[in-house]
Amino acid sequence: MRILFVCLGNICRSPMAEGVFRAVARERGLDVDIDSAGTSAWHAGEAPDPRAQAAAAANGVDISALRGRQAKAADMEDFDLILAMDEENLRDLQRLAGPRNAGKVKLFLDYAPDGWEREVPDPYYGGEAGFAHVLSLLRAAAEGLADELEKDAPSPARM
Ligand code: 4NP
Repeated sequence: MRILFVCLGNICRSPMAEGVFRAVARERGLDVDIDSAGTSAWHAGEAPDPRAQAAAAANGVDISALRGRQAKAADMEDFDLILAMDEENLRDLQRLAGPRNAGKVKLFLDYAPDGWEREVPDPYYGGEAGFAHVLSLLRAAAEGLADELEKDAPSPARM
């Protein structure tokens, strides 16, 4: 199972999502390949925003080694699940994916419990509190996604 997390810049939300989901997947023993990308190339090659790194580190997740890259058409073939942070990312990715792969593109927060927000708000122009809020949304969705994946592929320990 290959999963790609995507936001606009690939320096705030999607690297945090990548780090948080990698930690949850490791805790649960899930067999997944995980990456992240941006719909823009604005921050290609850059490390995550220091505020994103700090919010992740406060939750025990080290994302300092990640580097930004732009999502490309080949990603839409290569990944099984492409998870957008907001509606604009979703539309851009569906266009990039084309009719054959558009079904792989979903909002990440669709995996959070009912009643939660549907979009991960862009924290770039806000303060530290925005990053902490983003992290709590991402963790809820990561747990929900892990629950779904476990349903599809029960771990040997529970079979
Ligand atoms: P991200 O946040 O999409 O969560 O990585 C942003 C990062 C940079 C910009 C916008 C959003 N920017 O305008 O440069």
